[in-house]
Amino acid sequence: MCQDRGCCHSCLHYVLDYETPKTLVIQSKAVGFVFRFTQLLVILYVVGYVCVVQKGYQETDSVISTVTTKVKGFAYSNTSDLEHRFWDVADYVIPPQGDHSFFVLTNIIVTPNQTQSRCPELPTPSSICTADCDCTEGHSDPRSNGIQTGLCVNYSDTQQTCEVLSWCPLEIDTNLPKHAMLAAAENFTVLIKNSVTYPKFKFHRRNIMPQINSSYLRRCEFNRITDPDCPIFRLKHIVSEAGEDFQSMAVKGGVLGILIDWSCDLDWWAGKCYPKYSFQRLDNKNPNNSVAPGYNFRFARYYKTPDGEETRTLIKGYGIRFDVIVFGTAGKFGIVPTIVNLGAALSFLSLVPAVSDWVMLTCARKKDLYNKHKVTYLNEDSDSESMAMGTSYGTQ
Ligand SMILES: *[C@@H]1O[C@H](CO)[C@@H](O)[C@H](O)[C@H]1NC(C)=O
Repeated sequence: MCQDRGCCHSCLHYVLDYETPKTLVIQSKAVGFVFRFTQLLVILYVVGYVCVVQKGYQETDSVISTVTTKVKGFAYSNTSDLEHRFWDVADYVIPPQGDHSFFVLTNIIVTPNQTQSRCPELPTPSSICTADCDCTEGHSDPRSNGIQTGLCVNYSDTQQTCEVLSWCPLEIDTNLPKHAMLAAAENFTVLIKNSVTYPKFKFHRRNIMPQINSSYLRRCEFNRITDPDCPIFRLKHIVSEAGEDFQSMAVKGGVLGILIDWSCDLDWWAGKCYPKYSFQRLDNKNPNNSVAPGYNFRFARYYKTPDGEETRTLIKGYGIRFDVIVFGTAGKFGIVPTIVNLGAALSFLSLVPAVSDWVMLTCARKKDLYNKHKVTYLNEDSDSESMAMGTSYGTQ
């Protein structure tokens, strides 16, 4: 019975007590210092990081872009396969136009006059034979060069291999020229035309700036210090800015990234919006890794002889593929992010008294006194003020 009454009493106590904030002025330099210092930290965070670094008052949008490229330059090669041959853009840029990338041929293995016929397979452990019964008619392995005819024929004076139906003679790609055939490609230039849009802000811009006129465009070449706005790049310059040597990269090919950063602050008080170029090798960053290095592919040119036979010239081309990668985010003042961040800042500031209270009630020298005054219970039955401590801080 008694317990029930006690319970009911405390329930009523919780429901019907009214709490009203009371101002307690603590004249303590230490607690005052903690309060101001915490306030300062919060303000520094809001102003320094949220406003200045993160630009929390801005709306953002990411870039939409298109790229076209045009390579210029020519070369004269005098390798054994294609002796004394003149090369221009139509010969060494494959395919003639690409999407955000272009490929420049620098080295080749040429196998001319191939016809659809039969010839001995290149000697490998699975193709070497001693008699016809070692070869299976119709057998084709994707790693081999053709469909076996079931005959074992002489490959050389000392070796016999299975005969295959294929484009013969077969390509022998083990003797890649040690020096790039198109060494002169280092002096080729490329004009990169890049248009970008930030649809949310209706902002359009090209990397050919309004201040660039056509006579400057005809003679300029990109240089980070002297011509940072020129959109014409020498291939050697691109490769060397990526920390690579053009001639050694040209032997086996590779992939190089041309990065265009369009990150911009579009508020009127910010500076102008212009592209920032950087260059980076994208494939095989470890030069000591000699397994499957570089970049190559095969293509063929087809002919018909006067007597109607089809022949082709097979070319295994090595070269450098340049990938143009455009990225960036633009920011501009927006009322919604401003309000959201302002709200976050204010709620952060409201945490400051909690920190100061904690310091005051647990670390300060006069913490017992502060504890005593922190919570006051006023009983309506008595006029005398009864001081009590918050339950969590205990009694003495
Ligand atoms: C590229 O041009 C420079 C300067 O004009 C020249 O010295 C160099 O030999 C050229 N490179 C090749 C591989 O022809």
